[in-house]
Amino acid sequence: MRRRYLPLWLLLIPGLALAWPWSRDMMNQPSLKPQEGEMVPFPERSVPVGGFPTPVKNQLEAHRLANPVRATPESVGRGRQYFTIFCVPCHGAAGKGDGPVAKKLPVPPMDLTNDFIQHQAFDNWIFAMITFGGKLMPSYRNDLSPEERWDIVNYIRAELAKKQPKPSRVNEAGEY
Ligand code: HEC
Repeated sequence: MRRRYLPLWLLLIPGLALAWPWSRDMMNQPSLKPQEGEMVPFPERSVPVGGFPTPVKNQLEAHRLANPVRATPESVGRGRQYFTIFCVPCHGAAGKGDGPVAKKLPVPPMDLTNDFIQHQAFDNWIFAMITFGGKLMPSYRNDLSPEERWDIVNYIRAELAKKQPKPSRVNEAGEY
């Protein structure tokens, strides 16, 4: 059978597509471009989103922190909420590393009920992981305040391992 090759002129199409007049609409809107004129004041009643100042610069420094948030039922309760929002997609409701997103990852998310996390690691080790992330795990320093991160640590240490693995809201096909 004769092998068929894509015609060379197909390579020109992406270049043409970028030249369409409508492909630059967003760029050509009336807005102030970077380094163009003076900075204008923020609109009244707008809320700046600047992330959270984190007391440490890197994972190593974080390993020197003491957990300033006591593992009260309130803290653990808040931690449970944040864990459900931010961590369950990968680590799973029971923390076993079997959330729906886990199936898509080349490296499975760790089991957070294992002996290392529950008994050997210090609180600050988990805090550092949440703050700076791992090779695949995202960093949460702009999404969660330091106190919220300690709440999650308290939840993982105080409650997660005691939870019986129960069917999550995910069906066989891995969909919600
Ligand atoms: C996108 C998927 C994903 C999300 C979301 C995620 N993780 Fe992870 N997590 C991972 C992966 C993958 C690893 C393995 C290490 C790596 O990424 O380098 C990991 C590792 C960890 C570890 C290290 C465990 C060990 O035994 O060394 C901790 C602790 C952890 N995650 C906690 C959390 C917490 C708490 C949250 C929520 C704030 C969270 N993770 C959200 C994917 C995720």
